[in-house]
Formats: sequence, structure tokens, C-alpha cells
Amino acid sequence: MKKDKTSAVKEMYAKYVMETYARADLLFVRGAGCKLWDARGKRYLDFSSGIAVCSLGHCHPDVTSAICEQAQTLVHTSNLFLNEQQPKLAKKLVENTFDGVCFFCNSGAEANEALIKFARKWGSDKGRYEIIVMNDSFHGRTLATLAATGRAKYRKGFQPDMPGFKFVDYNDLSQVRKAITSKTAAVMLEAVQGEGGVIPATDKYLQGLRRLCDQKGILLLFDEVQCGFGRTGDLFAWQHSGITPDAFSMAKAIANGFPMGAMLCRREHAGVLTPGTHASTFGGTPLACAAACAVIDTILHDKLLENCRTQGEFLMKRLGAFAKKYSCVKGVRGRGLMIGVVLDRPASELLPLLREKGLIALSAGETVLRLVPPLIVTREECETALEIIESALKKISAPKKG
Ligand SMILES: Cc1ncc(COP(=O)(O)O)c(C=O)c1O
Repeated sequence: MKKDKTSAVKEMYAKYVMETYARADLLFVRGAGCKLWDARGKRYLDFSSGIAVCSLGHCHPDVTSAICEQAQTLVHTSNLFLNEQQPKLAKKLVENTFDGVCFFCNSGAEANEALIKFARKWGSDKGRYEIIVMNDSFHGRTLATLAATGRAKYRKGFQPDMPGFKFVDYNDLSQVRKAITSKTAAVMLEAVQGEGGVIPATDKYLQGLRRLCDQKGILLLFDEVQCGFGRTGDLFAWQHSGITPDAFSMAKAIANGFPMGAMLCRREHAGVLTPGTHASTFGGTPLACAAACAVIDTILHDKLLENCRTQGEFLMKRLGAFAKKYSCVKGVRGRGLMIGVVLDRPASELLPLLREKGLIALSAGETVLRLVPPLIVTREECETALEIIESALKKISAPKKG
């Protein structure tokens, strides 16, 4: 009997691709907006956005045409020369955040490496090299970003850890105050912890961190790789608290699935990284920058931040009601369209049930169901997702009495 396409592709993976992921038996062949289709013709609602990447939905026409047009014009020339798209994108990022300069690279980990190198270089003539980072954080899989990641399970087997990181509890200002020494260069954190379980920092905490860093003369750095680019209803999640960091990283949704990362620092720090101190062959190609320009323009022009807030509030309210109704739901948290439903069991138990009913979602931490739909999601699509989630919850837990 002839094998179906999914099984044939799975077999090729098993033979030729390193097994660094626990992949579901699902072969996606097409995407449009918030929808995906598998090789068997089944349609899904995508509330994962390729792990908070395709925030404008799949194959957004503005991004697709920007990519096609640039691919027919100029793809890559190296950073030894100028290209038109790179400063155009940097200007858009600066105009929507604070006065500063950008460095471009290809991924979240690489953007955080740039942030870490920036902090070390800034502190190098002051004897400051240590970075205070958070328990339960996630900053990437390279050796430096792993060493900065606050979940020991990711570091296991790769020791010795790169030195220079000190861990404290998230949302606890007094722990940061106690951890600062004459060797501290920076505090680095996610404004909403993603992989750690969708945990937002309070505004008070972030404002307190800004004051503390100013008093101690050290840098405040944000990893906006997951919570940035409109995901929480502001272009960047730190903007919610009304403070300004010294620098921040971004990636994931920056080019809606075209691989890219960036770091932006304040103008007063523009001279910290100089020619020869940092580089990336593919950083800021005309192609990647053209895609990212289309993403920012679309987010702002189509008022997607507003949609993110409105649909996010709607989802949080309705999911909050599930916590009262189903014993397996312990609570709901998040900001904008970065939402965590805290369960009493591994979220991985729920994901196959959701997929069966046509919804793609994620887990975060061990027991948090993570929902990060595209920012273009409609009310109707939210209603459909809620129906599917409720039917799966019904299956795994009896409704609460009374
Ligand atoms: C907050 C955060 N930082 C960094 C990374 C690493 O990004 P990448 O996988 O693009 O290297 C991730 C990925 O999930 C992330 O969520």
C-alpha cells in the first residue's frame, strides 16, 4: 500500500534530520491568515503563530510582496557595504521606541548575544561584567544565552556554564538590589516571561528596576524576542510600564517568519560596539529588512495593536470564566495576545486534544497552556478557539459543582 505524504516525510526526518525536537505527526502544507492546512487536507486555527513568530498571520500579502519584490532586486551584499533597507528599518524602530542605534542579526539568541556583549563591552573599562538575570527566564540556546537562562534543565549536559550571570527571582526588586555589586554591569529580563510560563512583570517592578539601575549606574536590558513586536498590545512590552531601557533585543515576529533579529541601544551608548567588535554575515540583509519594514508598517497602519488589546481582553475574560467552571483550570494570566492558562496538569496533555479538534496551541513552563494567536485574529476566530478549548477541558476535568 502507498504511504501517505505525512508518513513518508516522517520517515525521511527519522533518517536524515537530527532529533532535537519532539515533533507532532503533523505535516503543514499551506497557511493563510490564522489558518493552516495539513497534508491530509484538515484545516486548523493557529493560536501558536509558529511560536509567536507569524504575528501578521501566515503569508500576509504585504510581507509576501515585500519579500518577492526585494528578492527580485537585491538579496545580500554583506555589511562591508551600504544597503537601502537597513537604515530604513532602523529608523522605523527608533521612531517607535527611543533615540538610538540598531544592530541586526538572525535570531533571538543572536540578538541576546549582542545584548550581552554590549553590556560586557560597556562595563569593560569599569570592571563591571556581571549580569543579573531572572529565575525561569529563557534567553536562547547558544552557550552565553543558555548561561543567562534561568531554567537549569536547559543547561544540563552543557556545563561548565559561561560565568558572569547571577540569578534572582522575577518580580522581586529587593533581590535585585541585594545582588548588585561593584562588578554588576546590567540587569536583563523579559517584560513578560514566555517559556517560563507567560508571567508578566508588574509595572511597579519595572519602574523600580529603572530607578535602581539609574541609582547604581548600571544598564537595564530587555529581551523582547517573544513579547515584542506587538504581541502584548504595545509595540514592545516594556513600553507598557512607561520606562525606557538602555537596550533591548528582538527577533521572532520582527519579519513574520523571515529569520531575523535585532538589538537597539540608546544613542549615548552608540559607541560601545565599534568596527571589529561585533558582526554577523547575514545581519540586516536587504531581504530581511524589507520584510521587517513591511511588518512594522502593517502593524501600525492596520491598527493591529488595538486589535491585539481588544481580542486579548476578550479571550482573557472568557478563559477566566473557565477557571470558575473547570477544576483543572487554576487561573489565567498574560498581556495582549500573550496568554497563559494555568492548569493543574502538564499542558502537553491538552495539546493533542486541541489539535484533534483543529486548534494549534503551545505549552509554557510545564502546566501552562500558551495562546499566542496572530495579531490579526478576529472575534469569530477567538470564539471558535474558545469552543474548542472548552470541549477539551470538559474531556479532562469535570465541571465544578455549584
Ligand atoms: C524570550 C526569548 N528569548 C530568546 C529566545 C531564543 O530565540 P531563538 O530561538 O530565535 O534563538 C526565545 C525563544 O523562544 C525567547 O522566547
